[in-house]
Amino acid sequence: MKLFQEPILLLAALLSPTATASSSALVLHFNHVGISVANLTLQRDWYNQTLGFSSLIEVVGPMEMPAAPTNSSTSGSVSELSTIQAVQLQNPTTGAIVELIWLSSSISASRISISSAAAAAVQGLFHFAYRVPDLNRAIRKLKEDGVHVVQPIAQGAPYTNHDQSTFAYISDPEGNLIELIQMEY
Ligand SMILES: *[C@@H]1O[C@H](CO)[C@@H](O)[C@H](O)[C@H]1NC(C)=O
Ligand SMILES: *[C@@H]1O[C@H](CO)[C@@H](O)[C@H](O)[C@H]1NC(C)=O
Ligand SMILES: *[C@@H]1O[C@H](CO)[C@@H](O)[C@H](O)[C@H]1NC(C)=O
Repeated sequence: MKLFQEPILLLAALLSPTATASSSALVLHFNHVGISVANLTLQRDWYNQTLGFSSLIEVVGPMEMPAAPTNSSTSGSVSELSTIQAVQLQNPTTGAIVELIWLSSSISASRISISSAAAAAVQGLFHFAYRVPDLNRAIRKLKEDGVHVVQPIAQGAPYTNHDQSTFAYISDPEGNLIELIQMEY
């Protein structure tokens, strides 16, 4: 039952305003990216087989939860139920986590990534990034696996603490943009 609460808490956090305001800097360790998916099986298999992630939390659900409030339905939305299923996958080498959530009432964001510029033209989360030790090798392997390379390898903007970086964009089967970046120290 413990596991079952996790996606609800995550969604609840999105819906409720946060109250904390402190003068001291917060200590924030990056933990995971959460993606609302159209097809949980498809996406889970891709992150598993193509990016090498393994289940951290097995698929939970399906379970019912109140439908997200919409402002188009003026009555009775509280009693409507959605079904939710979720899984967390982790990269066994680096510990990077991706969380995939499927909600029966979700709608398509039509976020088909033709180019990184087109994706950046939609406000909100644009991409997430993984650092790789050898970008050329990573892109070569992903191409062999049939992954869509949205933007080929390019020189990145100079970082304060790095001599240079190179990056490329790929997309998962549902068009979510993933940047791969190699940094030279
Ligand atoms: C989801 O993806 C799987 C695996 O690719 C496929 O077999 C299945 O038909 C898909 N389900 C739907 C509802 O599209
Ligand atoms: C994912 O891949 C690993 C090996 O690459 C495998 O052990 C694991 O069972 C796969 N499936 C899931 C759902 O993690
Ligand atoms: C519903 O949402 C739209 C877009 O956010 C807004 O313009 C509209 O005023 C809202 N309608 C109601 C009844 O709240």
